[in-house]
Amino acid sequence: MEPWFTSAKLGIFIHWGIYAVKGVPESWSFFNGEIGYDDYMDQLQGFTASHFDPDQWAELFLRAGARYAVLTSKHHDGVALFDTRQSELSTVRRTPAGRDLVREFVDAMRRHDLRVGLYFSHLDWSHPDYATVRRHEAGDRQLNRFSAPPPGEEDPERWERFLQFHRAQVEEVIRAYHPDLLWFDGEWERDEPQWRMRELREQIRQWDPHAIVNGRMLGFGDYATPEQGIPIEPPEGPWELCLTINDSWGWQGGDRNHKSVRQLVRILAETVGAGGNLLLDVGPHEDGTITEEQRERLEGLGLWVDRHAEAIYDTRRGLPCGHFHGASTLTPDRRTLYLFLFDRPNEHVVLRGLQTPIHHVRVVGSASKLRHRLYGGLGEVPGLVYIDIADGHLDPLTTVLAVEFEQPLELYRGKGRD
Ligand code: GLC
Repeated sequence: MEPWFTSAKLGIFIHWGIYAVKGVPESWSFFNGEIGYDDYMDQLQGFTASHFDPDQWAELFLRAGARYAVLTSKHHDGVALFDTRQSELSTVRRTPAGRDLVREFVDAMRRHDLRVGLYFSHLDWSHPDYATVRRHEAGDRQLNRFSAPPPGEEDPERWERFLQFHRAQVEEVIRAYHPDLLWFDGEWERDEPQWRMRELREQIRQWDPHAIVNGRMLGFGDYATPEQGIPIEPPEGPWELCLTINDSWGWQGGDRNHKSVRQLVRILAETVGAGGNLLLDVGPHEDGTITEEQRERLEGLGLWVDRHAEAIYDTRRGLPCGHFHGASTLTPDRRTLYLFLFDRPNEHVVLRGLQTPIHHVRVVGSASKLRHRLYGGLGEVPGLVYIDIADGHLDPLTTVLAVEFEQPLELYRGKGRD
């Protein structure tokens, strides 16, 4: 996998599409019958992108501290935000916007040195050949006329036509925009023999050997994609948490349940400390503007990240459970350990099981050094490290301490003695 991804730590996800016209859930609203299909598609008429300024987006994402951004090039509704030759259903041909929004997005992100990701839904609930076969094993997801034909009415030839269309669109996206990251979704309604994901992964490698592919590939992606919650046992390999700022992926005017900057700082630190990236989602208005509430969150997060950049970017997952009660990260050489203090400590911060002597402890983003002392320990069992800290050292959102070691950190993972 290209190394930029695991160093980047923070990306911005953008769910933008015709669903922002009425402010209904992206694609799912017609699938679940909240709105009729025709009413949903009427939103094509209202999608203007009239204030879309991707350079402003890029500047905001940079202020947030992001290193990459992922735009929905096509959601489950099948409406492409790019100039596809495979179908009429695009913002270019069917909306007043009349623009290739993916082209403008990609060019602007690159002008600002952000890595580019494109979300692409494998399944397409608008394509006439999509709902033509049923998944072999029964899935746990609901099937309806958008996703599958009634039993006995399957048509594998039409499914084959859909697969050709699917491959042709993926190839268009790669050849036209060369995204650094392909962010697939919507694999669950078919199985591997139907999608032939192994073959797709090979094709992508031929079209662009550098493209990273997320995990929603039935086993053939490059990293795991937990959604809306930090995993308790983090995945072993590379991973990325995708998370909404409020409770919606796309713009929904009634959803005021925004996470605070403090909550977002903590989620970012816990994610990075567990070895993941955070892909934080915004849902712009149909005109392409990002809401005030979401902009404020991104800017607030970015101010904190900026003060604590050394503890975030290019780090590795931190201490396993038991050594410190909180999130932590390590530099690749294991000579610096960063401790994230979400709560106000009572006089001390305590570390256990460190086999390597500490050189000094400092507060990240300030000139302060903190006193530390070692208590106890016997033979191979390390003692307890007490770091003294006073309220004056605390950051209003989350304080970060840097513990500098004389050698690369070694941990004691034993049980003491019988
Ligand atoms: C879920 C939702 C989808 C959204 C995606 C982002 O799969 O169904 O609408 O795009 O999460 O990860």
